Amino acid sequence: MIVDQTLLPERFETARLATLDDTARAINTMQVRGAPLIGITAAFGVALAMRADPSDGALHHATTVLRATRPTAVNLSWALDRIKTGLRPVPTDQRAGHAYALAQRMADEDAAACEQIGVWGVEVLRARARALGGRLLNVLTHCNAGWLATVDWGTALAPIYQAHDAGLPVHIWVDETRPRNQGLLTAWELAQHGVPHTVIVDNAGGHLMREGRVDCCIVGTDRVAANGDVANKIGTYLKALAAFDNQVPFYVAAPMSSIDWTAADGAAIPIEERAGDELGHGASVPVANPGFDVTPARLVTGLITERGVVRPDRTALREMFPEGQ
Ligand code: MRU
Repeated sequence: MIVDQTLLPERFETARLATLDDTARAINTMQVRGAPLIGITAAFGVALAMRADPSDGALHHATTVLRATRPTAVNLSWALDRIKTGLRPVPTDQRAGHAYALAQRMADEDAAACEQIGVWGVEVLRARARALGGRLLNVLTHCNAGWLATVDWGTALAPIYQAHDAGLPVHIWVDETRPRNQGLLTAWELAQHGVPHTVIVDNAGGHLMREGRVDCCIVGTDRVAANGDVANKIGTYLKALAAFDNQVPFYVAAPMSSIDWTAADGAAIPIEERAGDELGHGASVPVANPGFDVTPARLVTGLITERGVVRPDRTALREMFPEGQ
């Protein structure tokens, strides 16, 4: 069962995925979206495929089909590689059961990683609030990197939920995030949790930073390169530039599943080009619709991971994640 995110925030409805094709369609049409969540959903998609046909050929087919659904979030390949490697040695008559168990383990690990990002991230917010004399902290976020985009908690929103729950006063500037308005998903989540927030158009962030009305930015990520460059929803780079110019700390919440050790830097990250009709102008004008951009590591204050806050550079990342290749 998934939450159909294309219906939110107007309607909360769940939908059943019964087959590999259902799963691939749900990811491609963004019924499920958000880097960690599409990885976990794909793992369950492999389990569905194994229930229908547990052969090696079907395993290869399922991972190939799912891998092609969306290109930028590395969590998708990370999850598919892990489930494929885990299932290969398993006899075919036991594969479906193993696949479900492995997918569930990955889901549980994702929730635990996000909760831990919250634990480290709330210390970042606490320190920032202390530096500002303990007043209300205004945090800007882009896209939706909350529990809808993960299994639970979220990445960028985990520190915010934990700060709010701990009594640290926070107010969130929520970028609308054109063209698909994932900011409205963030606003919906924050409203459910009772966190004060205000939705702004994507172009308002720089102005608010210049006026001193943003104390910190936290965003999620779809892929972190080995040198600490970060891909995230289109528009993130501009926020990082404005934050840099105004000395506003800019943090990226990044579980280990979003680090691509094979990407030397941001130039190696594939950027999804989505259909032009998402811009809503019909066929009347030529449009381009890149879904993501890359923020260079030099604009990022720190990566908030499940192991702690790390400098966005190759050496620091390797030290924190020695198992990364
Ligand atoms: O295109 P989407 O909505 O799947 O975008 C991915 C994202 O949710 C964001 O870029 C996000 O910040 C990273 S996922 C926690």
